[in-house]
Amino acid sequence: MARTPLMAGNWKMHKDHLEAIQLVQQLVYHLDADDYQRTEIVVIPPFTALRSIQTLIDGDRLDIGLGAQNCHYEAAGAYTGEISPPMLAKLAVRYVVCGHSERRHVFGEDNETVNRKVRAVLAHGMRPILCVGETDEQREAGDAERIVGDQLQAGLEGVDDAQATEVVIAYEPVWAIGTGKTATPTDANDMCAFVRGGLAERFGEDVAQQIRVQYGGSVKPGNVAELMGRSDIDGALVGGASLTADDFAAICRYHRL
Ligand code: PGA
Repeated sequence: MARTPLMAGNWKMHKDHLEAIQLVQQLVYHLDADDYQRTEIVVIPPFTALRSIQTLIDGDRLDIGLGAQNCHYEAAGAYTGEISPPMLAKLAVRYVVCGHSERRHVFGEDNETVNRKVRAVLAHGMRPILCVGETDEQREAGDAERIVGDQLQAGLEGVDDAQATEVVIAYEPVWAIGTGKTATPTDANDMCAFVRGGLAERFGEDVAQQIRVQYGGSVKPGNVAELMGRSDIDGALVGGASLTADDFAAICRYHRL
């Protein structure tokens, strides 16, 4: 079964809600029915812009999906400053990024926390984008596969076969995020294939073939087509280049590049 490519723009801590509306309007101006047909397109703004963009998507019946960058694993409670999965689900959020390397490295999220989030997102009818990836030192030490394999299996603990196809994995080598350094298409594909192998071990080959594995790390219009030409890369999680409508639209239209 062919996997529908998923292009997701992770805006990180950029764009207030007014700028966010403008960016989405500019983005859809560049896209047409054929693009939406071929590729699932998702924007992942900061929490403060979710409501504005949801209203825009709804009102103009836009064919793009909404994602959130993080969430708490509990549904409600005394967790000052946190946002719960049901709050996101109410805003028609379809995807939630879990365990982005910035969450792991800057905010100290470990595999267990990430796994709780993955399960909470699924339990509330949304899809987790589980991020995995090794640091430069880990790669140099020959540890990339072990680290990524551990993050993958720990992140998916308790996820059952029926839920598995709702999950998206984003392989993002930490050394390639925001650095301008991209993994070579061959290295990126090898790691995405390794991830799929791990998914097959966990859920069986049939299910693994249905799960989308994205590459992330300095994806831009100039390198996306080559990455997407590889067998096991099913889309991209895009940071910097998703902040410019022209660039993100070009990435979403990679088949025309
Ligand atoms: P980048 O970020 O495209 O700016 O490297 C990717 C990410 O962090 O998801």
